[in-house]
Formats: sequence, structure tokens, C-alpha cells
Amino acid sequence: MRKPIRRAIFPVAGLGTRFLPATKSMPKEMLPVVDKPLIQYAVDEAREAGIEEFIFVTGRSKSSIEDHFDHSYELEHSLEERGKTELLNMLHTVLPKVGQVSYTRQQQPLGLGHAVWCARYHVRDEPFAVLLADDLILSKPGCLRQMMDIYNDVGGNLVAVEDVPKEDTSKYGILDVISDDGTIANARGLVEKPSPEVAPSTLSIIGRYLLQPEVFSQLDLQQTGAGGEIQLTDAIAKTIGVVPFRGFRFKGKRYDCGDKLGFLEANLAFGLDREDLRAGVREVLKKYI
Ligand code: G1P
Repeated sequence: MRKPIRRAIFPVAGLGTRFLPATKSMPKEMLPVVDKPLIQYAVDEAREAGIEEFIFVTGRSKSSIEDHFDHSYELEHSLEERGKTELLNMLHTVLPKVGQVSYTRQQQPLGLGHAVWCARYHVRDEPFAVLLADDLILSKPGCLRQMMDIYNDVGGNLVAVEDVPKEDTSKYGILDVISDDGTIANARGLVEKPSPEVAPSTLSIIGRYLLQPEVFSQLDLQQTGAGGEIQLTDAIAKTIGVVPFRGFRFKGKRYDCGDKLGFLEANLAFGLDREDLRAGVREVLKKYI
């Protein structure tokens, strides 16, 4: 039995410029899909997978994320007074246990690799998970739970992957695949955001990672890559050969909530997935098609 992964990093320092003006004074991770902020979907998915320590890498003007995962005494008090017990209980389920959450800041926007590196003292010398809240995944069990089950067998570095259209390779980390059984892909390398002409495949990294602490020795070097940023993809790529690397095709549908259309589609899909809303969403859709 492998040592279980108990810690997860949530990089939430990004500016969210694609959603301006909505994100002018609100973190993009707090954008709601139906009635739940993106970051809470990620935290719930991590919790379902057995994560017990939630490490947020935040930036300036992200304090509402901290507030979201804390008590709101005034709100709780007035719900209590009005006898809204169900809502009150729901709010309590959002709350992590005392001491389970920690926050560290990425003081400069130097890339995803840098954001993860900012959490190195929280993670210490243990394997850990990384979840990008922009990638919202509808699946039962959740994507991270599925990954943990595979990880318990194989260990190493494991990332969620899916095929993307050839013209989209420049948005993702792409695997240079050497073997692929349809569920697990082995790669000899990874390339961050290659243009379609030079992309080694169309198998792309989705924002779920289970990583060994060795990746920090690479991130320590602070080498920049695509877009002049310190890339997590590059640091993982450099450990291939030292740490086994695998891409895992998860079961489920992923929505790119960093993109307006992806975000709208996620709202529809998650609405349709909800028993209390399904019929209503269908009715609304009928009006437009
Ligand atoms: C990041 C990673 C990229 C990965 C993507 C998944 O890119 O750098 O390798 O494929 O997330 O969403 P970003 O979307 O932050 O530009």
C-alpha cells in the first residue's frame, strides 16, 4: 500500500482577464457554475479523493476565497433566526475542518510552475495533488478520486489527460506519447503549449496532477519556458526517467471554465445534471433551439 496523498495545492492567483469586467473585483475562481463557485467544485472533488489539507496559492484581491471557506457569522445568525436549517447545514458542509486550509501568496505572476513552487514549504517532502479550478469535470466518481485509485497501484507522477482538437494544442501541455492503452499513456516528454505544426500529439494535460516532491528540485531552478513563464509541465517533463510519468484518461466530461463558451456550457451541463433543475433547463433550452 502506497502512502496516501493528503495534500492538494490550488493555484488561484491568476488575474482572470478573460472574464473582465466580472473579475475586476472578484476572483475568477469564485465565478459560480449554477450555484457553487468553481473553487468549491475543486475542493469538493479533492475532499472526495481523500485530501485533508487544502493549500491555496493566492494573490492580491483574492480574499473572498478565504472568506468563502470560513464562517460567516452574520449570515449564519440570520439564517438561524429564520429557521433556515437546510441552508445553514449546507453552509457548514462547505467549511473545511479547523486547520485544514492554508494560504500562501504568489507575489509575482511568474507561471503555474512558480505558483506550485510557492507552496513547497506546505507540501514538504510528500507526494501531493494539484487542481486547477478552471478545469471543471463532471464525473462520478470525481476525476481526482479516479486518479487516486490508479495512483495507489502505479505511483509516480500521474496527470489527467484528454485528446484535444489539433488546432488547440497551443493552449495545453502536450504529451510526447510512447505507448497508450486507451486509459494510461506513457510519454517520453511533455511540451507546453506547442503550435499544432510541432505538437508531438493531441493528448493534452488537464488540470489535475498527482506529483512527487522531486518536481520541486526542478522548480527550484526557476527556469522559464513557454510565454516566458515558469511552467509546471517543463518541471514534470524533466523528471521523466527519474520519476515514472503517466497520463490518465479519466472518465467524465471536462469543461474549460477559463473560456466564456466553456463556462456557459458548464452551467448548462451542471444544470441538466441536477435533478431539481433538469426539467427547467430543458424547457429553457427548447426556447432557443
Ligand atoms: C495550464 C498548464 C497546461 C495545462 C492546462 C490545463 O495552462 O500550463 O499544461 O494543459 O493548464 O488547463 P493554463 O490553462 O494555465 O494556461
